[in-house]
Amino acid sequence: MVDKVSTRDLRRKDNIVVHPWEALRWSGQHERTIVAEGEGIYVRDSDGNRLLDAPAGMWCVNIGHGRREMAEAIAAQAMRMSYASPWGLGTAPAAELAERLAALAPGDLNHVFYTTGGSTAVDSALRFVQFLNNFLGRPEKKHIIARDRGYHGSTYLSASCSGKERDRNYFDFSAGLVHHIPAPDPFRRPAGMSMEAFCTASVQHLEDRIVALGPERVAAFIAEPILASGGVIVPPPGYHRGCLDVCRRYDVLYVSDEVVTGFGRLGHYFASEAVFDIVPDIITCAKGLTSGYVPLGAVLISERVLAQVSGDAARDAIFSNGFTYSGHPVSCAAALANMDIIDREGLLEHVREVGPYFQRRLRELLALPIVGDVRGAGLMACVECVMDKDSNDPLLLDHEIGSRIDKHCQKLGLLVRPLINMCVMSPPLIISEAQIDELVAMLGEGIERATRDVISEGLFTPPGAGAPAQPAG
Ligand SMILES: Cc1ncc(COP(=O)(O)O)c(C=O)c1O
Repeated sequence: MVDKVSTRDLRRKDNIVVHPWEALRWSGQHERTIVAEGEGIYVRDSDGNRLLDAPAGMWCVNIGHGRREMAEAIAAQAMRMSYASPWGLGTAPAAELAERLAALAPGDLNHVFYTTGGSTAVDSALRFVQFLNNFLGRPEKKHIIARDRGYHGSTYLSASCSGKERDRNYFDFSAGLVHHIPAPDPFRRPAGMSMEAFCTASVQHLEDRIVALGPERVAAFIAEPILASGGVIVPPPGYHRGCLDVCRRYDVLYVSDEVVTGFGRLGHYFASEAVFDIVPDIITCAKGLTSGYVPLGAVLISERVLAQVSGDAARDAIFSNGFTYSGHPVSCAAALANMDIIDREGLLEHVREVGPYFQRRLRELLALPIVGDVRGAGLMACVECVMDKDSNDPLLLDHEIGSRIDKHCQKLGLLVRPLINMCVMSPPLIISEAQIDELVAMLGEGIERATRDVISEGLFTPPGAGAPAQPAG
């Protein structure tokens, strides 16, 4: 534990850092929690307060914090051989990991391109698709279709694929190259529409867009199996299968972005086939690959697709894309140790057992007046707050409600990830049922406290309590 003066001092220094998604209005004045230690599903802040880490860092600390085995694997590799250029040299950890990933990946996704994280995995996957089509003599086939509310990263191309409205302010994107179709959000489907009809309509959006652009111009469709940062949107059953069929019909490659869903979050190493019944052409992964202990990402590429541009077919082709830290041996050693832990402790089975309990317990929060939807699968979930529960009108209760809930939860000992009017959670895969009870109790209390705030500020009227009071001032 760090003493109070040090916490203040650390906060001051932390304000030198420009954080991701920094609200620049408050630069230099942020009062961020300084996280000092972690063990299992908990972290401790610099004042010694214990917090249950419900987002597992940023969807990534899958095996939990403070694993000695990980630290030892990382240290041992750093001592044995800390770095080698991935351009001309191979290393044992990168080679061993590639074999293991290829064996676990669905279908013929037998080749691995290493990156430094999720954004660079998505970027590399899409650059590969464009490179392939240029090589095949069809340079016009390079448009990409993505979804509203998708998140694919922060490089120029991966950010161009992201469809979260608020993330697009003041930035430039690959204009005209990436096209967005609606997110398949069952909660926001037209009133009275069945799930089957909604699925058909959602898949139709993809086909319509391909046809409108011209199939000869569309290279790839990129989709998260479950839209994670967009609010844990679980598509209707059959959606991904339908989209894959459409892609096959028009010779469009399917890129499944498993940066969040990979490595156990849905109870499998990869969710594409095991949960959603598709074998895509390319899978991107990162985060849980090393449980966040060190950075690493990977692109898994289909043998059939790669064969079009390799071996005898390749002529003079060179895939001029890569990073100094592609397949970093220390990161690959960490990924191997991470998978050893996942296997030895049966964490995939554990998620399949405990996931339904997590989802069931969270759904009890629907009894609270501002909770409109609780959704998710495995160990990823979202609680969405609304003004009017009986309507699926996207009218927001209060843009800051997620942050209000987060602030109350932190006082109660829980970290959640606020997203406008939502709180998303993806706890470490080792969470027990008793710890899920603890999480749900704190989250429920945090939501109740935030509800009292918005009632007292006249921003919300509980059902049956008459018109809202006028906000003060
Ligand atoms: C689905 C998805 N893809 C890609 C990324 C980008 O990964 P990274 O932040 O490691 O670059 C993220 C990050 O949250 C993500 O959720």
